[in-house]
Amino acid sequence: MCGIVGYIGNKNTKGILIEGLKELEYRGYDSAGIAVLQDDKLEVFKAVGKIKNLEEKVLQNTTCCVTPNEMSTGIGHTRWATHGKPTEFNAHPHLGIYSYVVHNGIIENYKELKEELTHAGHIFVSQTDTEVIVHLFEFYFNQSNDAQKAFDETIKRLEGAYSILLITKSEPHKIFFMKHGSPLAVAKGNDDGEIYFASSDAPLIGLANDVVYLEDGVSGVASVGNIEFSDEVKWTTLPQNKLFAQKDGYRFFMEKEIYEQKDVVIDTMMGRLKNDEINFDELDKSIIEGINEIKICACGTSYHAGLTASYLFERLSKIRCTVEIASEFRYKEPLLSKDTLFIVISQSGETADTLEALKMAKNAGLKSIAVCNVDNSSMTRVADATILLRAGIEKGVASTKAFSTQTVVLWMMALYFGKTRNVLSTEKLKTELQTLKNVPNSLKVESQLHEKCRRLSKRYLHGHGFFFIGRDVFYPLALEGALKLKEISYLHAEGYPAGEMKHGPIALADPELFTIALMPQHLHYDKIKSNVEELSARDSTICAISPISFELSDDFILTAETNHYMLEFFEMLVVLQLFSMEISVRLGNDVDMPRNLAKSVTVE
Ligand code: M6R
Repeated sequence: MCGIVGYIGNKNTKGILIEGLKELEYRGYDSAGIAVLQDDKLEVFKAVGKIKNLEEKVLQNTTCCVTPNEMSTGIGHTRWATHGKPTEFNAHPHLGIYSYVVHNGIIENYKELKEELTHAGHIFVSQTDTEVIVHLFEFYFNQSNDAQKAFDETIKRLEGAYSILLITKSEPHKIFFMKHGSPLAVAKGNDDGEIYFASSDAPLIGLANDVVYLEDGVSGVASVGNIEFSDEVKWTTLPQNKLFAQKDGYRFFMEKEIYEQKDVVIDTMMGRLKNDEINFDELDKSIIEGINEIKICACGTSYHAGLTASYLFERLSKIRCTVEIASEFRYKEPLLSKDTLFIVISQSGETADTLEALKMAKNAGLKSIAVCNVDNSSMTRVADATILLRAGIEKGVASTKAFSTQTVVLWMMALYFGKTRNVLSTEKLKTELQTLKNVPNSLKVESQLHEKCRRLSKRYLHGHGFFFIGRDVFYPLALEGALKLKEISYLHAEGYPAGEMKHGPIALADPELFTIALMPQHLHYDKIKSNVEELSARDSTICAISPISFELSDDFILTAETNHYMLEFFEMLVVLQLFSMEISVRLGNDVDMPRNLAKSVTVE
């Protein structure tokens, strides 16, 4: 996820910005840049890859803003590519003629704005959404000669989520800022009058004590010793522990990533879900022409997202869909035909088995799409098209937000293909889109729910095994719940289709066999209920997760009433993630780095 820093003061501005960006490295990025302004001297440096590349450039080419006792302003950014490749042109800060901007988030209406500004004579050099901000600012400044007015006019026109810092030669001692959707903090430095900005605490620790975490809709302007806000703000004291700050105050990266799912799926949908339609800039409609089957290939959690999608593709796009574990696919001598669209799913984009499967499909002449979190990763370079998850870096080895964003992307693809193939009514599409918009709400971690999972976890630290059971899309969700538990608790767990238990596994049922039953209200409730009753009759210990109370369960986790099974799906996902995490905590395991596992499996 992108990071922002800013500084006004009389220290070595470039050094401060670069050190600040280093503190944000843990969030992941693929390019970085800074811009500094001292009177009418403006310098910008950008580099692809690590911050040390940027640092080298700065050291070699500096002419201003490094010597103390000279006031200067500066802004910096680490970019995680979402619109356009990780190149220097696409790296921030973005330039107009006399101003620079850094931005986190997504400008949803950037295409319309770009068209308007291009007509007005502005020249764009990047593929990003961000560049429109600085051009819009200069467009308004050219009319009014008033930077504050121009900034206010600019932010009025932006749709989407954004936090912004802007510097301009027309007001060289100021930083204009705005926060809407993406985080931004402003802090008073420990030394006279200096002011710092950052998108999270880590760069500020040790340099400042008093901080304002800006609320959505708050903008302002800062100059040495002075910050003007558009609204009332609350000053607080900065925490002093850096690792704690990197985890945004959560105990583990996994916990942070579970909690941020509700926010990252908004980025996933942004610009793709518009009024009554789905739009993927990344896909040419012809990709689905002549296609009679979709084949999905992936590993681990990504495979579970693929399996979930197979139900949605058949149901919503009316297209046959098969899913294969990549390591199996590679050696089965698969029969591939050109009317098959090949989709790989991967958080990292580097998983060796999935990558090789993709190459096999390419060699056989199939069209391919990578659904991936890391731009410029190997899979994105091989596939014909890439749809990025926009989940930001995932640090916990146990994948969480990659799964939720993958499922959202694949669900949107199923709707997009359904509409393109004319098999989905406008009415049905409308209902599904409305439901998609409610996903962030279902992913929100309610404190009572987390507390319930924490308390229940103490009863599930032993036993001879867990069966997670569900039907339809809740079967892959059951697989995912079991995988999460295995990975971080080291307890044996299996995911199973609920209706299949009677064909063998039910022989294991006894009080020491824990059944975690996914019982959604809006998908085959009666069927799953009778499957769970069969297990209860054989004395298995049952933990039911459902919005409908179930008298035969030993433990019960109540989920919210909704009107769609996919909303139940996302809430149950959160329950399963929290449940595994709390069991792992009680067992004293390393939640973020479980034994024997690596985040990215680049070997066979
Ligand atoms: O990067 P990928 O999505 O291709 O990784 C696939 C699996 O290795 C990954 O999902 C793994 O199963 C996770 N540890 C699951 O939490």
